[in-house]
Amino acid sequence: MGIVALRDILRPALENRYGVPAVNIVNSDTMHAVLAAASAEASPIIVQTSVKTVRTLGPEVIYANWTAMTRGIGVPAALHLDHCPDRDVISECLRTGWNSVLFDASAMSVVDNLAQTIEVVREARSYGADVEGEIESITGVEDGIGSDEPSERQSLEVCLDFIARSGVDVFAPAIGNAHGHYAASPKLDYQRVRDIVDSTGLPVALHGGTGLSDQQFSELVSGGCAKVNISTALKRAYMHSALDYLQTAQSENRWEPLHLMKRTGEAVEHMVVEHMRILGSSGRANP
Ligand code: 13P
Repeated sequence: MGIVALRDILRPALENRYGVPAVNIVNSDTMHAVLAAASAEASPIIVQTSVKTVRTLGPEVIYANWTAMTRGIGVPAALHLDHCPDRDVISECLRTGWNSVLFDASAMSVVDNLAQTIEVVREARSYGADVEGEIESITGVEDGIGSDEPSERQSLEVCLDFIARSGVDVFAPAIGNAHGHYAASPKLDYQRVRDIVDSTGLPVALHGGTGLSDQQFSELVSGGCAKVNISTALKRAYMHSALDYLQTAQSENRWEPLHLMKRTGEAVEHMVVEHMRILGSSGRANP
């Protein structure tokens, strides 16, 4: 157990059809809370960082926290870089010790995206790291990356060709999902997930995990979405619990930052535990 490759978390998840939460953390407190949830639930876990978080905190600080907080951890855990169009940031995170990266070249043509993804896979392999690939942008803006316009979808043949030739370990297709808040329940293309998974034997990464129903999660996970990205739910749990605490602090004129950290940590941990139970990753730390 402890730090493992992304593929070693996703392979058993795909085989046994459960989903592993891949949670975007924003600081050391939220990293701690996400890892606490994994330990409490005996669940594998993927901790993700957006490029914005990497730029804000710095890769060295994030990685120092990661190694300190995962020392002796009893569950499989991987550190992943989410949506990154910047090859320099990819190289820096791989060099520092991230276990996997999502090279997001969805703004490029599929031909250029493929050429660059092949290079990223080669680079990642030299560090023993894995790669998530994407050729259609996921609707919605995630920490400054993306667009609210629904993306153009590629044919199944183009997706399968990209997966085979790039050598990626996990693929993130557009299936009617979106980052951020769903104004209405999305119409999800479950068949597209099944087609990709059945044809390639690779897991699919589900983006836009916040706000999906238990039923939607269950259908997607049984189709082969082994990596389930959760970001907005963490931001909400963190900020709402902070606001709640700060309002009480103001009304009582009692100011204790350590209590604030405890409250936000508990809220984030609770949110992640709930997702682990819905996705079926609880108790899967020892497959
Ligand atoms: P949400 O913000 O909708 O949870 O999506 C997270 C995500 O897909 C990160 O890449």
